[in-house]
Amino acid sequence: METTTPLLAVDVSARYADGHDVLRRVRVTVERGEILGLVGQSGSGKSTLALAILGLLTAKSGKIAGSVQLMGRELMGLRPREMRELRGREIALVLQSPLSALNPALTIGAQLREAWMAHDPEKQHWLKQAREGLRSVSLPDTDDFLARRPSQISVGQGQRVLIAMATMHRPALLIADEPTSALDMITQAEILELFAKLNQAYGMAILYISHDLASVSTICHRIAILHDGEIVESGKTEELFRAARHPYTQQLLSSCPHILAEPPKEEDMDENLWPTAPAGVLQGALHSHTYHDCGR
Ligand SMILES: Nc1ncnc2c1ncn2[C@@H]1O[C@H](COP(=O)(O)OP(=O)(O)O)[C@@H](O)[C@H]1O
Ligand SMILES: [Mg+2]
Repeated sequence: METTTPLLAVDVSARYADGHDVLRRVRVTVERGEILGLVGQSGSGKSTLALAILGLLTAKSGKIAGSVQLMGRELMGLRPREMRELRGREIALVLQSPLSALNPALTIGAQLREAWMAHDPEKQHWLKQAREGLRSVSLPDTDDFLARRPSQISVGQGQRVLIAMATMHRPALLIADEPTSALDMITQAEILELFAKLNQAYGMAILYISHDLASVSTICHRIAILHDGEIVESGKTEELFRAARHPYTQQLLSSCPHILAEPPKEEDMDENLWPTAPAGVLQGALHSHTYHDCGR
């Protein structure tokens, strides 16, 4: 019976203090182990939805109405302490700009330690968990790497560290809010590949937020389109690409026409495709290469 309860079921409206209705009856579900892409242009309300799910909206002077259920448990109305307990352990968040989200004064090891100890005060576990966390995001688990500071690693490595911190406690749901928009194309593809890997390895469900339909299509099982505070369409990725019904979705698709066509054949893929075929590039990156960050 309980298998029919989605991992996350959201039905919310949100308004900021200035009276602006930012989300209007936004209904979204995420199933266990699923990657749901939430796609919409800048200002459509994506980050507001993420904050609403995490119980952080009131902190930004917003008002929220409706329901946010995690495995059937209502989160709206939980005390701040209960929400803090849940954040990072059952639902985790990864944001856009890695280097500003890391503390420049602390080593990578110290930050992983903090992330671990936030939900497990047993000190002796942290180092093993920190190394395991680094390995899970394909970073070196060495003492040298743990001793580095954010200025001594690349932006892509910084994003991996943040993903390791967010996923150390193996949350059932990871919310990634435009996690690749500060990264170059190759690094974006690597990070997308990493999300797909974490999803497969740990069965971790991901709410993947992006303004870029082409890039999310490579890893998302389903996609929901948010337009001006409303979900205008949602469905399985390939169905949405094949038969988008809403004019706004059709408009988004037509701005990336190459992904309507068949994916490029392996032998046709070369450097020249890069500026015009991000989906092809990403598919190439996901299926044929293992990239490594080389400290930039
Ligand atoms: N703290 C706030 N107070 C008032 N309006 C806000 C606040 N934060 C965001 N907004 C407005 O809410 C709308 C949605 O913002 P946001 O959720 O950040 O969109 P997205 O993440 O899709 O770019 C925008 O019009 C934005 O200007
Ligand atoms: Mg945003």
